[in-house]
Amino acid sequence: MYQMGSISSNNRSIFHISILFLPCFTCLAFCQDFQGLSPLISPPLIPEILNFLDQRLALVYPIIQGFKNTITSDPLNITQTWVGADICNYKGFYCTSPPDNDSAITLASIDFNGFQLSAPTLDGFIDQLPDLALFHANSNKFSGTISPKITKLPFLYELDISNNNFFGSFPMEVLGIPALSFLDIRFNFFTGTVPPQVFTQRLDALFLNNNNFMQGLPENLGSTPVLYLTLAYNKFIGPIPRSILKASATLTEVLFSHNLLTGCLPYELGFLRKLVLFYASNNFLTGPLPCSLGCLAKLEQFNLASNLLYGQVPEVVCALGKLVNLSLSSNYFTKLGPKCTKLERSGVLDIRKNCIPDLPGQRSARECAAFSLHRRYCSNPASFNFIPCQVPSSSHPRIGTKRNLVGYSALLRQAVEFPGRN
Ligand SMILES: *[C@@H]1O[C@H](CO)[C@@H](O)[C@H](O)[C@H]1NC(C)=O
Ligand SMILES: *[C@@H]1O[C@H](CO)[C@@H](O)[C@H](O)[C@H]1NC(C)=O
Ligand SMILES: *[C@@H]1O[C@H](CO)[C@@H](O)[C@H](O)[C@H]1NC(C)=O
Repeated sequence: MYQMGSISSNNRSIFHISILFLPCFTCLAFCQDFQGLSPLISPPLIPEILNFLDQRLALVYPIIQGFKNTITSDPLNITQTWVGADICNYKGFYCTSPPDNDSAITLASIDFNGFQLSAPTLDGFIDQLPDLALFHANSNKFSGTISPKITKLPFLYELDISNNNFFGSFPMEVLGIPALSFLDIRFNFFTGTVPPQVFTQRLDALFLNNNNFMQGLPENLGSTPVLYLTLAYNKFIGPIPRSILKASATLTEVLFSHNLLTGCLPYELGFLRKLVLFYASNNFLTGPLPCSLGCLAKLEQFNLASNLLYGQVPEVVCALGKLVNLSLSSNYFTKLGPKCTKLERSGVLDIRKNCIPDLPGQRSARECAAFSLHRRYCSNPASFNFIPCQVPSSSHPRIGTKRNLVGYSALLRQAVEFPGRN
């Protein structure tokens, strides 16, 4: 596995690389004062010997120094540590052996999370680091485009440029990165559409939330093999495609919240047997809840607040054994059965601002009447009653699960803890 690790330098040959530096101005002044040399005679170039641990580090040294020169703001003085040959001890840089040579040492990983660096572009930097496996740069002020040369990096599997100043259309270049499995471009200013190829790329995690993507959810959405999919806080329109069914063996956490989604929830959602978290709050989704949702045995967090949903909350949904938070507030539901009532009392179900008779904190009768006058229809209404699984007869909600849900934390600007990696 090619991941960050500690390195030991014993039995590694040390490379001696000479780099020529221009002498500094203070030396020049000193020479002039001391020897009274004519300013017309330039002093000799003083060679500085840099001993790199490995030839691969010598190769990336000028790339890093070149990038350092483009940095326009460094409030935390990070780049002060980017001097000399010991690249592996520069702040933010990590070395290990590359997959193609056990006895070599190379720059494998960069973690600039929270460094607040400004640079007009990353072009000529990350795309020139041939052994790079991880690039994390959450919460900096990087901008510009991504160089097509990034597709030449054979080992790059995590690219996180979240919470920066990137803008313009989706960075198509990332589609060609052969080993990429984690793509995080959330909290930038990307606009336009997400190319459909993104949903066929072999990723584990795709974080696109908090940009300005504007389009219908792509028809091939379900082709994605990701576990974590966050599309929240964009301008996605239209219905959740039925093709989401195809992701039933993988999709674990989904964030669709704060978009402009319309239509009814597809019955096919009930087939997502790996689903732990599903957020689609603050959209314009309508119709009843499909009873198929009662098959989501692993579901813990389910948030459909602030939509146009109506009807009875299905008892099979309230009976889901792992549910810790069922948020249905600010909809137009009209009925709760005994299981849902119990869930409401225990604080797991939030059903405030709906149209449930005799429950406090509901919408006004006038508001509810106005909504019901405006009938909404879903295609294939029979599918809403169908339960495509064996529902356990007596399951009790378990409260207080302690788990870090990556999809949920994707709504924060800070870096996301990705489970299963260390
Ligand atoms: C960074 O360096 C400048 C100048 O040396 C100093 O004034 C400032 O306090 C330093 N900032 C931090 C966060 O260390
Ligand atoms: C592996 O790396 C070491 C150290 O850099 C180097 O001496 C050796 O030639 C490399 N081996 C191959 C096969 O490239
Ligand atoms: C349930 O989730 C909502 C939406 O994220 C959150 O605001 C609320 O605090 C959560 N409730 C509980 C009891 O955890």
